[in-house]
Amino acid sequence: SSAVAGVCERTLIAVKPDGVQRKLVGEIIKRFEQRGFTLVGLKLLQASEGILAEHYHDLRRKPFYPALLRYMASGPVVAMVWEGHNVVRTSRAMVGDTDSSQAKPGTIRGDFSVHISRNVIHASDSVEVAEREISLWFHSGELISWETSDQSHLYQ
Ligand code: PPS
Repeated sequence: SSAVAGVCERTLIAVKPDGVQRKLVGEIIKRFEQRGFTLVGLKLLQASEGILAEHYHDLRRKPFYPALLRYMASGPVVAMVWEGHNVVRTSRAMVGDTDSSQAKPGTIRGDFSVHISRNVIHASDSVEVAEREISLWFHSGELISWETSDQSHLYQ
């Protein structure tokens, strides 16, 4: 039940345009499913400049910011919300280091990316940031809570 700390935690995962272009969506969903997380929101969208400016607000003064926004608008993105025990921290580990050259083999970036500017996937970096990002990318009606009987032994 939700009495276990962190069980209802949610995170925003986005397959970036290079990941969609390279047909990595299925592979990425598979990794989150087999780890045991629950998909509660999913959509393919062309991200608007407004949503990207809000999403990357803290990076607006970085030298790479204009290129980052162009890249993120260069094709469709698959935005997802995943739920589960410690999902924010665990998904960061699954995604790997932001700098692809430092990402360990076995992580998503360590298996599929060679450069930070085409690093395939975004994952929220804290529970607070996840809440903000989820409400930016999704309306509450697009998120669906559902019971997963196969994991109930973990959470009773
Ligand atoms: S920083 O500089 O510490 O704030 O950056 P970091 O937290 O490591 O990364 C924040 C996001 O910026 C992206 N990033 C880059 N994009 C393009 N080019 C360069 N050089 C670059 N450096 C960082 C990085 O992928 C992070 O995006 P998300 O979407 O969160 O993965």
